[in-house]
Amino acid sequence: AIERTLSIIKPDAVAKNVIGKIYSRFETNGLKIVASKMAWLSAEEAGKFYAVHKERPFFKDLVSFMISGPVMIQVLEGENAIAKNRDLMGATDPKKAEPGTIRADFAESIDANAVHGSDAAETAANEIAFFFPAMNVYSGR
Ligand code: CMP
Repeated sequence: AIERTLSIIKPDAVAKNVIGKIYSRFETNGLKIVASKMAWLSAEEAGKFYAVHKERPFFKDLVSFMISGPVMIQVLEGENAIAKNRDLMGATDPKKAEPGTIRADFAESIDANAVHGSDAAETAANEIAFFFPAMNVYSGR
């Protein structure tokens, strides 16, 4: 089915100047960018976005990292978009990511891991709504 998923290019990858290379991977693999914006998140926004991880030991480092620089936030649309984006990203820990995935090619560590992508349909809907009002998602057909 055609799905939408939320993707974030994290501060490490924005600083490396690889937004275009990562967008190109989405596009050549059938994922269409239907909303996009650059933002420099506040600690409050990053904490709310990652609220599901609030009790995890890495939460504080995760929030500090996500506010260390601007991020690029986009909605990707396409067949099986949630799983497809996760395949393109590779494992959370770049050391475990398959060669040729975004994290294997652009990420340094489990914290500075280049990209975030929604993990399921319900989280995708919530994460998209967190950053984009429905009127600012432009389904391109
Ligand atoms: P992301 O997909 O953005 O979701 C939560 C983030 O927490 C994850 O990517 C990692 O960058 C970060 N993180 C740090 N340590 C861990 C861990 N042990 N397990 C999962 N995520 C972690």
